[in-house]
Amino acid sequence: SRIVVLISGSGTNLQAIIDASKQDNYSGDVVAVVSNNADAYGLTRAQDANIATAVLSHKDFDTREDYDTALIEKINQYQPDLVVLAGFMRILTAKFVQKFQGRLINIHPSLLPKYQGLNTHQRAIDAGDTVHGVSVHFVTEELDGGPVILQAKVPIFPEDNAEDLAQRVHQQEHRIYPLVVNWCCSKRVIMQAEKAVFDGVIL
Ligand code: GRF
Repeated sequence: SRIVVLISGSGTNLQAIIDASKQDNYSGDVVAVVSNNADAYGLTRAQDANIATAVLSHKDFDTREDYDTALIEKINQYQPDLVVLAGFMRILTAKFVQKFQGRLINIHPSLLPKYQGLNTHQRAIDAGDTVHGVSVHFVTEELDGGPVILQAKVPIFPEDNAEDLAQRVHQQEHRIYPLVVNWCCSKRVIMQAEKAVFDGVIL
């Protein structure tokens, strides 16, 4: 399968997916990386792996709709089977989500449905939680609200700050995102009627 990854920043999850995709038996190839930010270090990671890159800055567009229309066009140039959001820090329009519905996934650093949105690690600490984690989900029109495919949990220790916790969560991100991307590529997991279905079982 052909994978297009969307990023805005450092791209450690992108790196984990690129590394995994080089293994035998992996069902997908990253064919392009698209960033809204020209300075994203993930673009360098892609170039180092001989993967095509494109930058499409939201600052060059007047409206979210115009940006997403251009983004759809850019992504479609690469004919993806799967579009992977990996730290892409833009809210997507309904039109964009509909266009790629069922082949669009995201990773969110919380145990959804808890802590949708930003600053998830600090919010989990402030709430006194002892368990935190990360979720990979299909993207639907509801922000951070699409059906969850896989989660990983991490402990929160009393002395943790948000940075400690982010690091612990990141390690789990790098384990589960390549795994789920592979499942999507091989159609082991699909979205049906806004639910995630794994090996024929509704999750
Ligand atoms: C991750 O924490 C991910 O959960 C969130 O954005 C961050 C991306 O990190 N959606 P990286 O660019 O992959 O290192």
